[in-house]
Amino acid sequence: MNISTKHRVINESYSLNEKKILGFISESEPVATLNSIQVFWKKAIDYNIFDDQGNKWIDFTSGIFVANAGHSNPQIKMAIKQQIDSDLLFAYNYPTEIKAKFYQKIFELSPEHFNKIALLNSGSEAVDLAYKLIKLWATKNKKKYIITFRGSYHGRGLSNDLLSGNKEKALWSNTSDDNVTFIDFPYDSGNVFDRSKLPNHSEIAAFMLETFQGWGAWFYPQQYIDDLCCFAKEIGALICFDEMQSGFYRIGHIYGYMTYNSNLKPDIICLGKGITSSLPLSAVLSTSEIMDIDVLADLHGTHSGNCLCCAAALANLEFLSEANTQKHLVKVIAVFQNKLRELLKKAGAVKQVNSRGLIAGLIFENAHIATNLAKKCVAQGILPVCTNKNSIKLAPPLTISEDALEEGMNVLIEIASTIR
Ligand SMILES: Cc1ncc(COP(=O)(O)O)c(C=O)c1O
Repeated sequence: MNISTKHRVINESYSLNEKKILGFISESEPVATLNSIQVFWKKAIDYNIFDDQGNKWIDFTSGIFVANAGHSNPQIKMAIKQQIDSDLLFAYNYPTEIKAKFYQKIFELSPEHFNKIALLNSGSEAVDLAYKLIKLWATKNKKKYIITFRGSYHGRGLSNDLLSGNKEKALWSNTSDDNVTFIDFPYDSGNVFDRSKLPNHSEIAAFMLETFQGWGAWFYPQQYIDDLCCFAKEIGALICFDEMQSGFYRIGHIYGYMTYNSNLKPDIICLGKGITSSLPLSAVLSTSEIMDIDVLADLHGTHSGNCLCCAAALANLEFLSEANTQKHLVKVIAVFQNKLRELLKKAGAVKQVNSRGLIAGLIFENAHIATNLAKKCVAQGILPVCTNKNSIKLAPPLTISEDALEEGMNVLIEIASTIR
């Protein structure tokens, strides 16, 4: 195949099975870290990924929900360069000007009730910190249960595995937390929140929710989330949203939970990925009542709040909240949603489309069809998120141009209409 358009290039010689590019990397890394779809990244600019053979893809992953402001965003690059030139790359946990400026910006953009922030390096660490805070708060308030959802994902450390998927997820560790209770995720729009399925109500400490269930971009039915949040407030339980994939305008608002109900006041939110559109940084936003529950709790690490990451985060927030970016976002969301409706009409293999803003989960009969579709997309210059489940996900950078988005979606619709 030879594809050459304004937005995509795939050379005749390109093969998805090309082992040469992986070479030393695939031999050196654990098998469990390898992607099922291998695309060599030489550079990434805005919504394009380039390899070293002259091939160019439209990125429908944002590098797994990170590059909301586009890859190598010029404002973010400039901010990182300026920070480097100021001769402060690292300052452990000491106060720095760049951290103060970033805090000012994130509090300015966030709902008022959040008045405390803790910085970390990865999403898994942010969820781990939330877990610790909930546990400390629960002990103080004579509560114990954390309610979470079957099928959820909250990262890869031990506490993350205790909260993710189901009870079996943490079996590898011979450790369990009997106070984590899994309930069924409401995949069906008719599913209702059933308080009778929950353990002793007065002992429920918190609900831990992904804003949408990651693997298929499953959103909670509106009534379900309203009832859950109302119930949590009624019994005095905390609400914690894991905003890793949904944060930083991915679904239209700065935090995705706001798209359910603008009056919702979660007690804790876990942030990462799109917080910098680039360098590793994560954060937990909460209130002093919760964050300062134990002043001796160890809530920071060697690299948390790194100066370069704070510079990237500040520039990222400035860029994403600009009026022009927001105007563009409204336009591309409309294009995306239109194209998704067309896809659902034309592509029989797609059983369901879950979507809001610039995220979509396409649901198929089985994982084989979904992975096959993802591979065909890559061969035609489109990179989707391959989940290795019966879904693929689409999440282009929020900066994607309308015509690149249309071109990418047209290719996807054509492939999805023929796939079995
Ligand atoms: C909902 C959710 N929580 C937590 C994580 C873990 O984040 P990280 O990979 O940065 O540790 C992820 C990562 O994909 C995620 O999607």
